Amino acid sequence: MKESDLLHQIVRSLLAGQLKAAADPHRPRWHLAAPVGLLNDPNGFIEHDGRYHLFYQWNPLGCEHRNKGWGHVTSTDLLHWQHESVALLPTEAYESHGCYSGSAVSDEQGRLTLIYTGNVKFPDGSRTAYQCLARADGEGGFEKLGPVLDLPAGYSGHVRDPKVWHDGQQWLMVLGARTLDDKGEVLLYRGETLQSWQRVGSIAGSGHGGLGEFGYMWECPDLFPLGARHVLISCPQGIAPVGEDYRNLYQCGWLAGDFDGERFEHGAFHELDRGFEFYAPQTTRDSQGRRLLFGWLGLPEENEMSQPTIPYGWIHQMSCPRELFWQDEWLCQRPVAELEALKGEQIRFEGTLGEFPGLAIDSAWLDLDLCGEGSLWFGAVAELVWQPGRITLRRQNWQSGVWETRSSPWAGGRITVLCDRSSLECFIDEGRHSLSARYFPGEKPQLSSGNGDDGCKICLNHWPLSACLVQ
Ligand code: FRU
Repeated sequence: MKESDLLHQIVRSLLAGQLKAAADPHRPRWHLAAPVGLLNDPNGFIEHDGRYHLFYQWNPLGCEHRNKGWGHVTSTDLLHWQHESVALLPTEAYESHGCYSGSAVSDEQGRLTLIYTGNVKFPDGSRTAYQCLARADGEGGFEKLGPVLDLPAGYSGHVRDPKVWHDGQQWLMVLGARTLDDKGEVLLYRGETLQSWQRVGSIAGSGHGGLGEFGYMWECPDLFPLGARHVLISCPQGIAPVGEDYRNLYQCGWLAGDFDGERFEHGAFHELDRGFEFYAPQTTRDSQGRRLLFGWLGLPEENEMSQPTIPYGWIHQMSCPRELFWQDEWLCQRPVAELEALKGEQIRFEGTLGEFPGLAIDSAWLDLDLCGEGSLWFGAVAELVWQPGRITLRRQNWQSGVWETRSSPWAGGRITVLCDRSSLECFIDEGRHSLSARYFPGEKPQLSSGNGDDGCKICLNHWPLSACLVQ
């Protein structure tokens, strides 16, 4: 569509929709969400010239997966964000069906540059994809430089989500891919410039590195050093549940290993978040040397279109900003330290589960030290259940009404739960595992005691979190 036509429609959509979206009782108070329409993957996460930039997959015209462009917000503290001009809109033939996910780098001249997938669908149902560049134009917008890479031989039209970085000598890019015979892979490219790319090979995927059959498509890869090792995060599609693992329609997980610039020798695949909604995360290294991550608290194609926010004209939100770290060779996540600044007055409760008087959890930080067996209710539609060795998050499905569970191992350590109206992010054993979910408890949800041993002692620290909306 012509850019001016799209912009007219976006202005109307924002004028007509913003107040309605803001009035939704499920609207997050301190998480990022699109002003109107659909938000999905975090894109282009980078600290550049002293500001954090976060872009996001955005359909500004509705709650369906269509018209994908890139929204753009910036911040100096990862909490208070400012809207910037919309960065990318699908106006060209090489991106006719969406400016899909990608990343951002500072180019050789220090200019903020976006690398994204131009997605093109054909009437017969087939598609192709181009990896494209756009450069900051100095006036808050981005100038498109067009495609720099088209499909490699042997691959379907599903090759997308470029994550690019410079290793000190050259540019490197990983891409999510689906082969012609339906195997999910991560492709590696190298480039002397951002314009010229050579394929190195496939560094991970179904049938590689001892994984066996492991999905028909891998989306949103991200390869980065953390300490002495490398981590590959990616989102394989087409994996069947095994016991308590892989319970979502699509997976998101990590592989740890050694990367020599060409090959990635890695260990087993582990889920990055074991909750109901968490997908397509992206990381960046900031100037403090931290490896930061945002994820999408959503999942494509799973009961999305019945979410109760849709009547309010918006859908989905980001995770909280998280920091990655190792503990005993295990990839852990914690909410970034900046979030402490949102904490209000502390309330502490120590006693048995039966004595717990309940607390407001509209928007709150909870630290839980638990023992024995028991459970706490989050509104009437989610329950956190603990028993020796295991934490389970139960949630009533908003579409079917059926109670569903996701769970994680638990060594008995602290559990932190971040609540923001319609989201829960649980960090188990100081971040060794996480369980994230959307839930729709209605206005003013309460935390209250559930079932458990009568003598079950709990120690709970609660802080309300103040709002920090995007400006
Ligand atoms: C992941 C994903 C990406 C794609 C984008 C489109 O959620 O499917 O692979 O680039 O969303 O919005």
